[in-house]
Amino acid sequence: MKRKTKKLKIGFIGCGAIGSRLAKSVKEELKSFCKISGLYDVAFEKPQKLIKGLKLPKTLIKKSLPDLIQSCDFIVEAIASNETTTIIRQVVHAKKGILIMSVGKVLNSPGVFKLAKKNQTVILIPSGAISGLDVIKSVGAKNISNITLTTRKPPSGLSQSNYLTKKGINIHALKGEAVIFDGSVDQAVRLFPRNINVAATIALASGIKDKIRIRIITSPKFKVNSHEIEVFGKFGHLTTRTDNVVCPDNPKTSYLAALSAVETLKQFFNPIKIGT
Ligand SMILES: NC(=O)c1ccc[n+]([C@@H]2O[C@H](COP(=O)([O-])OP(=O)(O)OC[C@H]3O[C@@H](n4cnc5c(N)ncnc54)[C@H](O)[C@@H]3O)[C@@H](O)[C@H]2O)c1
Repeated sequence: MKRKTKKLKIGFIGCGAIGSRLAKSVKEELKSFCKISGLYDVAFEKPQKLIKGLKLPKTLIKKSLPDLIQSCDFIVEAIASNETTTIIRQVVHAKKGILIMSVGKVLNSPGVFKLAKKNQTVILIPSGAISGLDVIKSVGAKNISNITLTTRKPPSGLSQSNYLTKKGINIHALKGEAVIFDGSVDQAVRLFPRNINVAATIALASGIKDKIRIRIITSPKFKVNSHEIEVFGKFGHLTTRTDNVVCPDNPKTSYLAALSAVETLKQFFNPIKIGT
């Protein structure tokens, strides 16, 4: 006999490139496990466009973050904001599960993870636009001596920041290849908050933040966002590279990042788990 189980109610904070794509997948691919119960974005037109495209009722648009949190069991965070860490904490405080896209915002917030443990709720972090995290997690901190992440993005995939201006780099005027950053994960996440979430993901997965070197290279000749990872350790040597097509709605976001978030949700809701 088929048992009827209650569908998990999922809410979305942020209805931009990633949030919209994930909402579409939840509606179409995960409909047997969950349903969309709320959408919230500071730009009101974003959820409006989304409900029109997905043919969802207007009542799903929530006017405030507390309204959204109250309406769901689980939340997908996909915002670009200075308040992201506070927002994530509010969700976890309300004992709701959360999938975090803005991973850099929780890299130095161990309190959020402790609170999730105390509240017996879950934090999901997708692998993003990289490969090799399975190996990094399997071998663990004690078997890794160092990691280098080299990220290559066209200028349209980055933002001209004060940091770059101070260094005398105008990414939009470059004629050839330039290394615009070479440093630690903490510096990378602070200076490129929208572009280098994968660095934070590697740091959290490996547990060896201080042994990770991040390089960011740009060139007008680059056509894709690529992430190359080299890991050395007692287990051997790993090199991986993904050449990512960008999301049509946002050139700063790789299509694979959206796919990996969908897969993370699928693995969470599906009883069959491979390679987690
Ligand atoms: N983990 C990864 O591998 C990975 C990959 C790509 C993007 N990201 C991150 O995911 C996040 C979303 O990316 P995106 O491409 O969808 O960006 P986007 O700019 O397309 O969308 C972000 C949305 O957040 C909304 N927003 C901003 N502040 C808000 C707030 N306080 N409350 C509610 N909504 C708010 C904006 O109005 C916008 O609609 C970014 O932080 C990005 O850095 C992570």
